Amino acid sequence: MKKNTEKNAANAADGVVVIKNLTKKFGNNIVLDDVSLVIEKGKTTVVIGPSGCGKTVLIKHLIVLLRPSSGEVYFKKRRIDNLSEYELNRIRTHYGFLFQSGALFDSLSVAENIMFPIRQHYKITKRSGVEELVKIKLMMVGLDGFQHYYPANLSGGQRKRVALARAIALNPEVVLYDEPTTGLDPIRADVINELILKLQRGLGLTSVVVTHDMTSAYKIADRIIMLHDGKIIADGNPEHIRNHPNPVVQQFINGRLSEEDLAVLRRSGVDLQTRLTPRDSEQ
Ligand SMILES: Nc1ncnc2c1ncn2[C@@H]1O[C@H](COP(=O)(O)OP(=O)(O)O)[C@@H](O)[C@H]1O
Ligand SMILES: [Mg+2]
Repeated sequence: MKKNTEKNAANAADGVVVIKNLTKKFGNNIVLDDVSLVIEKGKTTVVIGPSGCGKTVLIKHLIVLLRPSSGEVYFKKRRIDNLSEYELNRIRTHYGFLFQSGALFDSLSVAENIMFPIRQHYKITKRSGVEELVKIKLMMVGLDGFQHYYPANLSGGQRKRVALARAIALNPEVVLYDEPTTGLDPIRADVINELILKLQRGLGLTSVVVTHDMTSAYKIADRIIMLHDGKIIADGNPEHIRNHPNPVVQQFINGRLSEEDLAVLRRSGVDLQTRLTPRDSEQ
């Protein structure tokens, strides 16, 4: 069978985060199968792929929220997958993350939410210094003045922006975003895209963004990686991905079902035509 992996586009020497031969299994389920990846400094790397293909599992390994079944993870040339939780907590201060599960704390104000990671890692001696820092972070996401609001009084897009301000509270070098635009309408999603770009350009951050939103991927990516069946099947700039010869990549980026998926649906007796309701065809 043809080997379905693509040569890694980046050079290991440029890597701020490097994954070598990462395999992750949950029981018999092999989610990542010998994946190697070099995340380049100052660039935005976007990870795409169908739901359940292992995107979240992959980025959790970048900060060792999951440990590899085999393989290695490096941060700035230091191996980190074998460190203790205590040592990892120190390494993680160099990262910001905006995870799907990482919602804001509802009982804390916007300012307290942003202060949270600072309090976790540092003893705060001067309150005014922290207030200034919160202000700067909120200015970066266009929400200065919202310090005393509570999450319940913010829109979905504003909550995401506060979460982003919190993710950059410790001046991280690398920011990991897991589906940052999911659940937002196209305009609010685009505000998040613009912020990701602004932070990457303005602060020189290295960003890794998981998304299945191709509009967002094309807009923000320096490089796009597609995961499929535990492997990286495409790796390159947006142009490379758009013109990729692999039909699996084309089906995904154009949002079509594969022949295989269609055959399964047909066999299952679902009649796609008659199941369409008038509302579906309005879209
Ligand atoms: N903690 C876990 N225990 C067992 N299986 C898991 C765990 N986390 C993820 N998986 C499995 O790994 C696969 C990839 O999940 P995930 O990375 O969340 O996919 P996605 O690409 O949608 O982010 C799925 O089959 C999921 O069920
Ligand atoms: Mg996910």
